[in-house]
Amino acid sequence: MQKNLLYDNHGRPLNYLRLAVTDRCNLRCFYCMPAEGIKYVQRKELLSYEEMLRLVGVLVEMGITKVRITGGEPFVRRDLMGFLERLTAIEGLQAVNITTNGVLTLPFIPKLKEIGIASINLSIDSLDRDRFFQITRRDELPKVLKTLEALEEAGIPTKLNAVVMDGQNTEDILPLAAFTKDHPIEVRFIEEMPFNGEGEKTNGKSWNHRQILAKIESKYPDIQRVADPPNSTATHYHIPGHAANIGIIAAFTRTFCGSCNRIRLTAQGMLKTCLYDEGVLDIRSLMRSGASDDDLKGAFLAVFNSRAKDGFEAEQNRKGRPVQESMSTIGG
Ligand code: GTP
Ligand code: 5AD
Ligand code: SF4
Repeated sequence: MQKNLLYDNHGRPLNYLRLAVTDRCNLRCFYCMPAEGIKYVQRKELLSYEEMLRLVGVLVEMGITKVRITGGEPFVRRDLMGFLERLTAIEGLQAVNITTNGVLTLPFIPKLKEIGIASINLSIDSLDRDRFFQITRRDELPKVLKTLEALEEAGIPTKLNAVVMDGQNTEDILPLAAFTKDHPIEVRFIEEMPFNGEGEKTNGKSWNHRQILAKIESKYPDIQRVADPPNSTATHYHIPGHAANIGIIAAFTRTFCGSCNRIRLTAQGMLKTCLYDEGVLDIRSLMRSGASDDDLKGAFLAVFNSRAKDGFEAEQNRKGRPVQESMSTIGG
């Protein structure tokens, strides 16, 4: 039973934690990190599974009901399944979801089903092997497609995430939209954000949500706007006769901050109350200096009560460098 409802200083309920279990990744998507990779943190700097379980337990007592496991690529961390099994057993936690690139995921699907993982979001920016390779710098599309097939077969609710980049995969928008015809799998197109680990803007390569929709409408003029679930980052559409919806995530335009219910913990234990902030609480240090659960709760409440009202304010409040860190270190 959930005991508390947690709100921020703007009256937004907070119930969704995005937990990055690693900053490492086995792909090199160019919108996320440079070809040579990023400087990974040392093992002792990462939160241990024990520490994560403690933090999630405390946050669930405060009102968090949904945890999404992110990375990096979650499945590159050793013994992820053992951790997930313990995580899903936390009383009061209603849903554990995972965002994965699908390269290493296949063998774990039966176990994911068994422990009740609520849904999987699979990153797949192209259905074309060459373009997939160009974007991710690894030739792994066949493995990802096998994972996708197996997820559908296992009946685990799945969504596809495609970051849209001019000159890279805009030709994939229509094939990906067509995928929703015969598969009960929502496809979401995401505006590119400048979290590429290089400090460069996106070289004009980003498409905004209006351009993405216009492209889909060019082939499907009767596409309809449909209702969004609560706190959704995606705006939803439906093509008549298709099995699943299409979502467009205005991640850079930031149209959905007014209903943002998310907090984030990086793999190093930095709490972020907005994707665009630079970290507002070093919970790892606090925990390692002997804080009690009540101390942790007090520290959490203080930052939940001083949340930026949107991603633009969070970006403005940054004291250090402008947005440029790799998405792999943030967790997306
Ligand atoms: P659901 O739980 O299925 O709603 O998933 P989600 O969209 O919250 O998570 P996912 O990991 O699939 O993220 C999809 C895209 O949305 C990624 O590019 C994320 O970086 C982006 N995203 C997720 N949450 C936020 C957010 O709070 N703000 C912004 N600007 N982008 C976000
Ligand atoms: N802009 C937008 N989305 C991104 N992702 C990773 N980097 C970026 C970026 N720079 C996406 C991944 C994954 C999700 C967690 O975030 O493709 O689906
Ligand atoms: Fe929430 Fe920040 Fe994303 Fe807006 S940009 S939805 S405030 S995390």
